[in-house]
Amino acid sequence: MRSGGLTAVGDNRIKDVLVLGGGTAGWMTASYLGRALGPTVRITVLEAPAIPRIGVGEATIPNLQKVFFDFLGLSEEEWMPECNASFKMGIRFVNWRTPGTGEAEARPHGTGQDHFDHLFGLLPSHDNLPLSHYWTYKRLAGATDKPFDYACYVQPAVFDKKLSPRFLDGTRWASYAWHFDASLVADFLRRFAVEKQGAVHIEDKFTEAEVDQRGHVTAITTESGRRLEADLFVDCSGFRGLLINQVMKEPFLDMSDHLLNDRAVATQVPHDDETHGVEPFTSAIAMSSGWTWKIPMLGRFGTGYVYSSRFASQDEATAEFCRMWGLDPEKQPLNHVKFRVGRNRRAWVKNVVGIGLASCFLEPLESTGIYFVYAALYHLVKHFPDKRFDPVPVDRFNREIETMFDDTRDFVQAHFSFAPRNDTAFWRACKELELTDDFKEKVALYKAGLGVNLPVTDEANYYGNFEAEFRNFWSNANYYCVFTGLDVLPDHSLSLLSHRPSSVESAEAAFAEVGHRRDELLKSLPSTYDYLRRLHNK
Ligand code: TRP
Repeated sequence: MRSGGLTAVGDNRIKDVLVLGGGTAGWMTASYLGRALGPTVRITVLEAPAIPRIGVGEATIPNLQKVFFDFLGLSEEEWMPECNASFKMGIRFVNWRTPGTGEAEARPHGTGQDHFDHLFGLLPSHDNLPLSHYWTYKRLAGATDKPFDYACYVQPAVFDKKLSPRFLDGTRWASYAWHFDASLVADFLRRFAVEKQGAVHIEDKFTEAEVDQRGHVTAITTESGRRLEADLFVDCSGFRGLLINQVMKEPFLDMSDHLLNDRAVATQVPHDDETHGVEPFTSAIAMSSGWTWKIPMLGRFGTGYVYSSRFASQDEATAEFCRMWGLDPEKQPLNHVKFRVGRNRRAWVKNVVGIGLASCFLEPLESTGIYFVYAALYHLVKHFPDKRFDPVPVDRFNREIETMFDDTRDFVQAHFSFAPRNDTAFWRACKELELTDDFKEKVALYKAGLGVNLPVTDEANYYGNFEAEFRNFWSNANYYCVFTGLDVLPDHSLSLLSHRPSSVESAEAAFAEVGHRRDELLKSLPSTYDYLRRLHNK
C-alpha cells in the first residue's frame, strides 16, 4: 500500500519521466510537467552539450502567457527581461500581392509597399455580429475602399507609428504576444525547472535505447556510460526524432505536397532603435521564392528567408536575402537550416511522446512553433497516462495533435495558394498545390458570406479554463484578416444583413468608433521603444 489513496489496485503512477533534448521544447516540457505533476514524479532532462540550439528570434501568440507562463506562476515582468522579449500585436504581411519595390522592403514600413495585417484579438461587433460582416457588405456594395484591417481594427495605424500595446502605467489596451530569443527562454526555463522544481539536468549524449518485448522503451544509455530508466519518455530531440522516429520507427508524414518551402537562411541584424523605433509586430515579407521573417527585439532584429530548394539554390537565396538588408554575405554570420515539413503519423507511440520539432514542423509564417509545444503539453497532461498506457487516451491525444497541425497547415498553405503574386516560378507553382476537401469547404463557407467557424465556446474544465484556447484555433477574424489581405473576398455578404437595413446603417457608428479610438491611442501611447527600454532597464 502506498500513500495518496492508491490502495488495492496497486500504484500504477508514472514515477520517472525522461525528456530527451534540452532545447526550448525540452525545457518547456520539464517545467510544464513539473508544475502539473509536482514532486510525485522525477523529471530528468538529458541535454547533449555539443548540439547548438536553433535560436534566431521567435514569434509567439497571446495565449502563451495564459496557458503556459501563468500556469507556471511566472508573470511577464519576471520572464520578459531575462529573454530580451519585445511585444507583437500581429503580423504585417508585405508584398504578398505585388512584387513590391525591390530593396524598399529593407526600409521602414509605410508608404509604397503593399501590406496587410493579421491582428490578434477579437473584432469589434455591432448588433451581435462581428464588424467583418458589415465591412463585407459595404465593400461588395462599393460603399468603401478602406482595407479590412484599417477599417475594422485600430492596430494598423498604431503599427505605422510603432506605438506600444501598453500605456506607460502598464495598462494593456490590446491583445499581444512576444518576440524573443528562444535560446534565452530555454536557459530561463532550465534555471526555473532545476532550481525551483527540482528537475534533474544531465549533460550527456544519447547513444541507444533499450526496448522491452511490448515495444516500450525502458532505458536509454549515454556516451559516458550512464543508463537512465524511466516510465515515460518525451522526445524533444529536434528534427532527428531520436526516439519517436529512430527507435520507435514511427513514420514522418511529409507534407511537401502542401507547402513548398524546405530551407531557411537566418541571421541577426543590429538595429538603431533610437532613430527608427521598434516595430510592435512581426513582418512576413514575400520574396521571389518564399518569404522573410523580421522579428524586432531591442537593439536588433532576427530575420530569415524561408525558401523552396526547388526554386532557389542556397547561394541564390542568400544573395537575395543579403541584398534586401544590405548585408555582406561573406562577412555576415548566417545560419542555414534545412527542415522537414509535416508531422509524425502518431505523436505518441507506446511510452514515447514527441514534442516540438521531433513531432511536427511547419514553416513559421503564423508563429505557431512554440504554440505547438505548449498545446501538446496541455493535451499530454489532460491525457496523462499511468504505467498501463491505456491506448484510448493515447489515440485521443494523437487526434488532437493531428487536427491542430493539419488545420494550421491548411491555413498556412492558403497564404501561398491565394497570394495574388504570380511573378516567379515559385509563386506560380504555389497555385498548383491541392487544398484539402475540409479546407475547401471552409473557403466555400467564407465565400458564401457566413465566415468559417462557429463561435468559440467557453468550455470549463478541472485544471484551468484553458480548453477554449485550443478549440477553433483559427477563428473567423483570422480568416478575414488574411483572406481579405490577399484580395480573396466573399462572393456574397451575409444574407441576414439584407434583412436588417437599420443594423447596416447604425454600423457606421461602430466604424466611426474605431477611428475615434485609434486617434485617441495615437495621441496617448508611448513608443514601443520607450516602453521596452523601461521594461529592460536600458
Ligand atoms: N488564435 C490565434 C490568435 O489569435 C491565431 C493566430 C496564430 C494568429 N498566429 C497568429 C493571429 C498570428 C494573428 C497573427 O492568437
